Amino acid sequence: MDKFVIKGPSILKGKVLISGSKNSALPILAATLLFDKPVIIQNLPRVKDIDTMLNLLKSLGSKIEFFNNKKKVRISKTKNPKYFASYSLLKTMRAGILVLGPLVAKYQKSITSFPGGCVLNGNSGRPIDLHLSALQKLGMKYEIKKGYIHAKSKGKLRGKSIKFPTISVGATQHLIMSAVLSDKKTVLSNSSIEPEVKELTNFLNCAGANIKWIGKRTCQIIGVKSLKETNYTIMGDRIEAGTFCVAATLTKGNLLIKGFNPKTISTELNFLKKTGARFKIFNNEIHIKGPQKIKKINHIITKEYHGFSTDLQPQFMVLLCKAIGKSSITENIFKSRFMHVMELQRLGAKISVKNNKAKIEGNTSFIGAEIMSSDLRASAALVLAAISAKGTSIVSRVYHCDRGYENIEKKLKKIGAKIKRIS
Ligand code: UD1
Repeated sequence: MDKFVIKGPSILKGKVLISGSKNSALPILAATLLFDKPVIIQNLPRVKDIDTMLNLLKSLGSKIEFFNNKKKVRISKTKNPKYFASYSLLKTMRAGILVLGPLVAKYQKSITSFPGGCVLNGNSGRPIDLHLSALQKLGMKYEIKKGYIHAKSKGKLRGKSIKFPTISVGATQHLIMSAVLSDKKTVLSNSSIEPEVKELTNFLNCAGANIKWIGKRTCQIIGVKSLKETNYTIMGDRIEAGTFCVAATLTKGNLLIKGFNPKTISTELNFLKKTGARFKIFNNEIHIKGPQKIKKINHIITKEYHGFSTDLQPQFMVLLCKAIGKSSITENIFKSRFMHVMELQRLGAKISVKNNKAKIEGNTSFIGAEIMSSDLRASAALVLAAISAKGTSIVSRVYHCDRGYENIEKKLKKIGAKIKRIS
């Protein structure tokens, strides 16, 4: 298992090019199962989860051709589609579940393993009840046998009005793609409106789908007969961009971060402003300078979009450890997403956690230590902390980082971090 050896502290300066959004690309790739015609996807991030999704599509009979150093892919249907999504492919990546609905929508059957992915919710795991109950409302029937969901439908899925009991990014994406080829109209209310959901509806509309946002959280999908040949470029990754914005703020750095839309992280940028970071925002880039002294943020509460993103919570926690004064974070999306706390404490952080609230003392000077990644965004947070720590840190289990950050050590090295990968 690879590790990062990081010597700190470093001040990060220079240009960073943000990769395509992993969380946009994954549902879009799953949605290619709905097409008879070829689809070209550009600006794919070269990260492990994307490889896993492409392998999953291949196992389902899609033909995959790569171009441009694997950043562009052409996906076409073969004569032998398959309906079996195996545990070996879904166990590492939760988004794999998103093939279930498209398979049933297109072929009226599927056998799909329960998915894995980051453990963010303690013992409650990461359920898919919202996905399954909403798909049932579209006419899908299923049975669970030995960890697999055996699903089928009698003919096409049928449009329906569905109100999600709670907001879920994955369930919203899953239902949108499952309803695209259905009979009649589907109306999804209490939907997620994350930029990655809007990106999916943009992609499907470019391919001839009939999807409209008819209310703030209400999405209307009128079924179409088929989708047409499409060439689509994935937007820049707002979570990767937000991670580099924190990196600049944390290290008194000066970064030009290019290739994403800063409006997609405007909530988080407002918090960075409170810490003293200064920035200039352009259409597709941001120039950000870190303060000499990081001011505290009284309270961060993670919420659904436009709220503060849970995927930037661990990185902001690192920043708050170094801020002058006490701060707190309430995690509302994944109630026990605090696995990074114990590792930050090894670097000297003073944090206490009760239920879904963390209190952060601030004024911490991190000292390098051996630390271990527990999940994707936690691993990015630990890397940032190690860059700002005095001395050498060794971050283990960086395979978590590789699932979602493209070439993170190359990008960090280019802007002044002393980071090395060892196997
Ligand atoms: C997606 C993102 C992830 C991000 C999360 C929240 C991808 C690949 N992943 O994950 O990076 O952290 O959105 O912004 O895009 N829930 C249920 N039942 C369900 C589904 C979800 O109870 O059937 C719960 C979850 O446990 C969680 C909450 O709903 O507490 C939100 O999860 P959800 O929005 O579905 O997250 P994902 O789509 O899994």
